[in-house]
This record gives sequence, C-alpha cells and structure tokens, in this order.
Amino acid sequence: PTIHIITPTYSRPVQKAELIRIANTFLHVPNLHWIVIEDSQRRTPLVTSLLRETGLNYTHLNVETPKNFKMRGDTRDPRIPRGTMQRNLALRWLRETFKNNNSQPGIVYFADDDNSYSLELFEEMRSTRKVSVWPVAFVGGLRYESPKVNAAGKVYGWKAVFDPHRPFAIDMAGFAINLKLILSKPQAYFKLRGVKGGYQESSLLRELVTLNDLEPKAANCTKILVWHTRTEKPILVNEGKKGFTDPNIEV
Ligand code: UGA
Ligand code: MN
Repeated sequence: PTIHIITPTYSRPVQKAELIRIANTFLHVPNLHWIVIEDSQRRTPLVTSLLRETGLNYTHLNVETPKNFKMRGDTRDPRIPRGTMQRNLALRWLRETFKNNNSQPGIVYFADDDNSYSLELFEEMRSTRKVSVWPVAFVGGLRYESPKVNAAGKVYGWKAVFDPHRPFAIDMAGFAINLKLILSKPQAYFKLRGVKGGYQESSLLRELVTLNDLEPKAANCTKILVWHTRTEKPILVNEGKKGFTDPNIEV
C-alpha cells in the first residue's frame, strides 16, 4: 500500500528546519505520499520549493485556521485546535481523489511536523486493516502513553494518566488508518468545536472503529517508534524591530 502522510504546518522561524528534518526521514520510506497542508491563506514559496526539492511524491494544500477561532462554549479554554482544519482538508482530498478508485491500497497517518519518527514505524503501519495503534513517547506527562494490550493481543484500555477514560486516549502520532475505512465513512472528520483538550483524536476514531477493532503494532505496544518531541523556539532578540540579518536569505 501507499502510505499517505498528512502533515499540517504553519509559518514560524523553525518551519523549514522541521520540514527538512521529517522529509529526510520520509525519503527512506518506500511508497510514500506526503500531503502537506499549510495553515495559511496561500501556499508559500518556502514550502512550495522545499517540497519540489525533496523529490518526494507529494500534494501541497492550504487552508487558514481563522485567527479568531476559539473553542466554543468554555471561555476558560481558549485553545485553538492546532492543525485540525488542515487534517480535515486532507481527509476530504483523499475522499475526492479516490472516490472512483476505492480499491487503491493505502494507509493514512497523521504526522505533525515537529515529532521524531523511526523508519520501523512505517513498516509496522503498512499492514493496518482498519486502525493500528502503538505507544507515543513524551505525551500526557509521561515517558510514553500506550494502548493496554492483553495476552490475546487485544487492546482493552489505555496506559495514561491524563484522562484515561477518553474513548481513545491516544496522541495523533499513535495510530494509522486504512484508506478503505476513510473512504467507507465519508462523514468522519475531526470535530472542530466543543472538543476538550485530548479529545481530538477520539472525535475522529469513534466514527471509524471501536476498541475491539484496534490492531496493536510495535511488538504488542512494547516498542517506542515515535516521539512527541517539540522544538524550542529560537531566541531572535538581536534581530531587533527592523531585523538585523538579510531578509532575502531564507532560513
Ligand atoms: C499535540 C498533538 O500531538 C497534536 O497532534 C494536536 O494537534 C495538538 O496537540 C492539539 O490538539 O492542539 P502539539 O505539539 O501541542 O501537539 O501541537 P503542534 O505540534 O504545535 O501542532 C500540531 C500540528 O499542527 C503541527 O504539524 C503544526 O505544524 C500544525 N499547526 C500548529 C498548524 O498547522 N497551525 C498552527 O497554528 C499550529
Ligand atoms: Mn507537536
């Protein structure tokens, strides 16, 4: 199958470094299609030329998250859902593109631009029949969060401290979906509104599967193959208001 990697991304000083870093990972993965969705009004020259220069098979999309987008209802949680509209656009693109060709074997994976991915992860997800799952390091205040797997190899719950009663207590980086399932449930999207922190993943997965359907990977969820790393913001105080360095040099 082709692995369709969905990556939302937005402009900031480290954007190019992040995209180069994961592109270098993806270059080692056979049969990969990278769907990059910019959170911007237009597709930017930086991402456009970066994608072209990688030599990867890619699709370049964009949709801007409205600046004033706030979680409705609870004013104590003004959290903007990061990357959600972008991931939904990619799901729509997949459905549109494969609607007359739904026997095309494919796997869908949401890969944020700042995480760290082992190559083994992509081999593990290739055999996904519905939804496969595995641990993710550095989320929920733990070294890793993980699906709980019983002796029979069935997922029966979640090893998590932060709200372990979420229907799917799993980070975005912890699962992959068979394309056929995405195509057969055309109404399944990430919910944008009224989603508490940590419930975004559940909002999509509950439309697609039940706990019983989940396929544990990474040696029954005993191996860490992806890390929820976050890049430190560079200190640019010496640029001053006008900028000290040459703005024509792309960083
Ligand atoms: C955690 C999860 O790992 C994310 O999958 C989830 O989207 C996020 O929380 C959330 O629910 O808000 P975190 O490291 O906090 O991740 O989020 P980021 O890595 O900053 O953002 C996730 C993705 O969205 C990245 O690929 C990022 O480039 C993109 N993004 C972020 C945008 O497209 N627009 C933004 O304004 C911010
Ligand atoms: Mn992140």
